[in-house]
Amino acid sequence: MLNSTQFIQDLIGISSLIRQYVGQVIVVKYGGSAMQDESLKKTVIDDILFLHLLGIKIIVVHGGGPIINQWLYKCNIKPSFENGVRVTDEKTMEIVQMVLEGKVNKDLVSMLNLFGNYAIGLSGRDLNLIHASPLSSNKNDFVGTVNNVDPKILTSLLNDGYIPVIASIASDSMGRIYNINADVVAGALAKALKAEKLIFLTDTFGIMSDIANPNTLLKTLNVPQVLDLKRSNVISGGMIPKVDCCIDVLNSNVRSVHIINGCLHHALLLETLTSERIGSMLTL
Ligand SMILES: Nc1ncnc2c1ncn2[C@@H]1O[C@H](COP(=O)(O)OP(=O)(O)OP(=O)(O)O)[C@@H](O)[C@H]1O
Ligand SMILES: [Mg+2]
Repeated sequence: MLNSTQFIQDLIGISSLIRQYVGQVIVVKYGGSAMQDESLKKTVIDDILFLHLLGIKIIVVHGGGPIINQWLYKCNIKPSFENGVRVTDEKTMEIVQMVLEGKVNKDLVSMLNLFGNYAIGLSGRDLNLIHASPLSSNKNDFVGTVNNVDPKILTSLLNDGYIPVIASIASDSMGRIYNINADVVAGALAKALKAEKLIFLTDTFGIMSDIANPNTLLKTLNVPQVLDLKRSNVISGGMIPKVDCCIDVLNSNVRSVHIINGCLHHALLLETLTSERIGSMLTL
């Protein structure tokens, strides 16, 4: 009885948080590194569905780095990265496209749809949601960036009560396809949809001042602090595109960006529905 009463009190306690989010857009970037354990993946799916059922408009943008690497190795291609961004030649592009649009996207959609018709999978190519352009002038480099977002399809899907799940592939006006870092896509969609929050689910506790020591997690940071950490190389690798994108979206009126550990059970709910939170929250 006492437990039930406590449960109801806790529910009432979070109702003010819920009220703040209902009807708002939250973009969740689900990183490939946090996707490798199937039981954890299941709790991420549960959290997304729970937030959706609360009336929050959730968009999921996914990565797939480790799974892409597995398939590259199967094809005797050695993955390579520069400043946290995958070097993508034509062969790599073909595999990135097949893994992200064909496997990771549809696997997530199937899991979200196990209990009802909740999710639909898209990439930037569907209805030209994202118009891409190349990051370099090298013809053999298929790394792209977001040139423009046409959010109409996302707005109608969200208004109809669906969860769009987006793979970070897009094409340019000539139909040439590009691999875009999923952090960049998540940021561009958060901006275009005037999201309340952008949440990165990754494989680390958040931003740490010593990457090897979780006790150095920085729970609250502002943009000048992030720039300092970048300058002093405390932020490196895959964290670079993430924080660049954080700064960009915060400057475009997204209220907060969170970097949290998708390898912890129910990280999404702990970050959004508890006042203690578990990850790093970045604000202007
Ligand atoms: N200061 C820092 N604090 C925490 N992590 C950091 C820091 N600097 C660099 N990192 C690295 O950033 C990594 C997260 O980025 P990464 O690109 O690997 O994951 P992801 O974006 O979630 O996955 P994907 O790119 O597949 O979508 C961490 O695993 C960590 O090694
Ligand atoms: Mg990454």
